[in-house]
Amino acid sequence: MSRDFFGKTVLVAGGTGGLGREVSLAFVASGAQVVVTWRHEKELLALKESAGDAASRVAGFSVDVTDAQQTSELARQILSEWGRLDVLVNTVGGYAGGTPLWKLEPEVVERMLSLNLRAGYALAKAVVPAMIARKSGAIVNVAAKAAWDHAAGASAYAASKAAAVALMDSLAADLAGTGVRVNSILPSIIDTAANRAAMPGADFARWPRPEEIARVVLFLASDEARVVHGAAIPVFGNG
Ligand SMILES: NC(=O)c1ccc[n+]([C@@H]2O[C@H](COP(=O)([O-])OP(=O)(O)OC[C@H]3O[C@@H](n4cnc5c(N)ncnc54)[C@H](OP(=O)(O)O)[C@@H]3O)[C@@H](O)[C@H]2O)c1
Repeated sequence: MSRDFFGKTVLVAGGTGGLGREVSLAFVASGAQVVVTWRHEKELLALKESAGDAASRVAGFSVDVTDAQQTSELARQILSEWGRLDVLVNTVGGYAGGTPLWKLEPEVVERMLSLNLRAGYALAKAVVPAMIARKSGAIVNVAAKAAWDHAAGASAYAASKAAAVALMDSLAADLAGTGVRVNSILPSIIDTAANRAAMPGADFARWPRPEEIARVVLFLASDEARVVHGAAIPVFGNG
């Protein structure tokens, strides 16, 4: 499936990460100017190399997306350089599991809320005004199946992802009638290098691949999904 994002500017927060990298490359392949946030420059360089002839349509900024001042400055720079911001995909997030709530350190709770909730807030706050002004835009926020499925040992993670879905759902209501759409997606274990290294005995074939999830992201960001707003879409397959 190829969707047309020619002439559009897409911000992929965490766009050099396990899922973000494939989302970024899918948008590049569909013609978009892609802006990613990165934390390790070698990952940005690897992404540009994978983009091949289209490397000039990949730009990167080193930004802490949990900081609303930094995301605001990022949006300003994108608008100044490319004149428009059509799509935001937030793939920044983190996981903490295996610890019952009464043994959970406050720092872990803070980290989950920061990565899984505050980042979505800071990014959306930064990009929405320009989207409303153009009466057009799409936001896709990556939450997790854990937003619904609250397993033992993952209280802070599940709560932060559930809150992220609520944040986007309420934002969707805020955006009613503006032409700007917002949706969440809910992955479970994704077939990333990090997960393969962490679970070497698992059956990797059962895990959705990042490029499969990227196709859903591109659909949600496209005009074909004009009627999808305020949804939380499962992308964990049936394995
Ligand atoms: N992988 C899974 O199995 C899975 C399952 C369910 C849900 N999800 C969700 O899917 C999304 C993508 O997961 P993933 O596996 O692709 O994660 P990932 O590989 O860790 O990618 C996230 C990227 O965001 C970066 N990042 C972290 N904190 C940041 C900050 N404050 N500012 C800017 N960038 C920051 C990370 O950098 P560093 O590498 O330096 O940390 C990384 O490049 C996340 O929301 C995750 O919770 C993933």
